[in-house]
Amino acid sequence: MFIKHIVVGALALTALSGCSDNSSSSTSPSITTSVPKIDQSVSSVDVTNVIQVGKDYHSFANPESIKVTHLNLDLTVDFTNKVLVGTAQLDFQRVEENATQLILDTRDLTIDSVTAMGEAVNFDLAKTDSFLGAGLTIDIPADADSVVISYQTSPKASGVQWLTPEQTAGKKHPFLFTQAQAIHARSFIPLQDSPQVRMTYQATIRTPKELLAVMSASNEPDTPRDGVYQFSMPEPIPAYLIALAVGDLHFKPMGERTGVYSEKGILDAAAAEFSDTESMLIATEKTFGPYSWERYDLLILPPSFPFGGMENPRLSFITPTVIAGDKSLVALIAHELAHSWSGNTVTNATWRDLWLNEGFTTYLTYRIMQMIYGDERFEMEAVLGRQDLQADIDSLPANDQIMAIDLRGRDPDDVFSNIPYEKGALFLRELEHKVGRENFDQFLLGYFEYFAFKSITTDQFIRYLEQTLLKEYSAKLSKQRIEQWIFQPGIPEGAPVPESDAFSVVDQARNDWLAGKIQANEIDSEKWVVHQWLYFLNNMPEKLSQEKLADLDKTFTLTNSKNNEIAHSWLLISVKNWYQPAFKRLHDYLTSIGRNKLVKPLYKALSQTPKGKIMAQKAFAEAKAGYHPLTVKANEGFVL
Ligand code: BES
Ligand code: ZN
Repeated sequence: MFIKHIVVGALALTALSGCSDNSSSSTSPSITTSVPKIDQSVSSVDVTNVIQVGKDYHSFANPESIKVTHLNLDLTVDFTNKVLVGTAQLDFQRVEENATQLILDTRDLTIDSVTAMGEAVNFDLAKTDSFLGAGLTIDIPADADSVVISYQTSPKASGVQWLTPEQTAGKKHPFLFTQAQAIHARSFIPLQDSPQVRMTYQATIRTPKELLAVMSASNEPDTPRDGVYQFSMPEPIPAYLIALAVGDLHFKPMGERTGVYSEKGILDAAAAEFSDTESMLIATEKTFGPYSWERYDLLILPPSFPFGGMENPRLSFITPTVIAGDKSLVALIAHELAHSWSGNTVTNATWRDLWLNEGFTTYLTYRIMQMIYGDERFEMEAVLGRQDLQADIDSLPANDQIMAIDLRGRDPDDVFSNIPYEKGALFLRELEHKVGRENFDQFLLGYFEYFAFKSITTDQFIRYLEQTLLKEYSAKLSKQRIEQWIFQPGIPEGAPVPESDAFSVVDQARNDWLAGKIQANEIDSEKWVVHQWLYFLNNMPEKLSQEKLADLDKTFTLTNSKNNEIAHSWLLISVKNWYQPAFKRLHDYLTSIGRNKLVKPLYKALSQTPKGKIMAQKAFAEAKAGYHPLTVKANEGFVL
């Protein structure tokens, strides 16, 4: 059924019911002179089928009556049983004076006891919902302002991956990492797992002595390896940014404020690949305002990490699949760094508002890449991003093309697409073009400052826009156009069109080769960069003959490409055209990489034919034990 977005218009005035910020622990933002105060009036409207603005449909928590402000974790990492065991102390504040119950999110947790002021208190763990987990309701004594929960995780916790020594690069020690976004923090900590609840945190993590623990918090590279590690995150962050990794980790500095953690074997390669991180940090600060998190380090994970990167504050988690040897895939670093502003400092209040995180971040990513690597790189990446967006526009149902997407009743993991990313970025580029880059940069600077350490809804963003850019540039911008971008499917007519001269030669070469005018070895590709290769491959027709494929492969050794993105594009073409010489590489690829963006399209393409499905089943069966729970969940449907 098509659910109409009645939410625009009258309801757009509905503010978050007072839970958008954690005033106790966040400093109130200094308001720049040009920015007027924004109406935050509250009205709660609940009409059937109308999205309640600011309501988090993916959390059982009750921050509108009691909100958690600080977490103190004490966890032991038990690699033998694949569990985290310990306590979570939650400090809270009553929003409603007489509130008597604290409601938390959990998933597959065993709750041993809950105490307040040293005494056991009653708690009730509700029935489990298939993707939301189970609400945990705790009775709170009138004078308590914190509870301590003793618990342990399940070995199948959706937000934790336990790797055996064989699944690591060094093969000697086990490895553990968490991935909390969107709603998996609850699978390793009982908490209010909603992005509109921000908390500071402290943690004590107990590990086998020879391993090092790191978190999205203060990390001490030179800390003695004694198996007990202390962390503190003094800025209030949402639960989805809490992260932990444990392994045989080593550290290498890259700059004054930047460095890299990884297993020893890839440390030097990672530090070389990402050596521009410090420059990116400096350039971003200069344009978009001060970096709020002190250090910016990278943690390079084993290849099973299900994402390209995750913006865990102070310590982005990064897939090793982008270590290409030539910095060709470092836009990922720019992206995770940019989240330090858009996402970690200004945060989406609900998962419907994800585009505020990812769209702004994608826009900033392009800008950072332009500042560090120049116009040509920027233009090529913008064209490739636009093409990814078009592929989704062409294949997704209309409702899923809406930036402020209705996620009620849906698992956020199932709705991952380019819409919040590339459509969001294209929208911001249009605003930039209309008001001019300098003015738009001023706007962004003010936005990050105004909403610093707040979680905001799409509707709050629109109101802010109305009182800033829309007012100042009323001749150039209209609210109607902005609402079209945010609440309608498709791409508005007249949207910016990214172009790259560097791709014209590629189009020419591809066309000539396809028309049979030239052989592959006559393509003048010596100077082509990775982006040109991607553009060359991604724009091939669906069907290519075996001769054509062999000609390409023989000339450019594509099956053996060391660049994981090029290999991905080539393997996808190979599956669609049943080009068997690539199938051994395909199998190796699927069984050694767990990054969903790279493996899912391959499984999907394989699943389209009976013999493809058999190959998919074989690879999946072999790889499954080493895949992250999210990668298993995203792909198991293709091998049934
Ligand atoms: N925050 C996201 C990852 C994410 C989004 C996890 C939504 C769960 C739910 C991260 O910053 C991201 O966007 N990663 C991309 C990077 C790419 C767009 C450069 C990825 O992993 O591919
Ligand atoms: Zn992102």
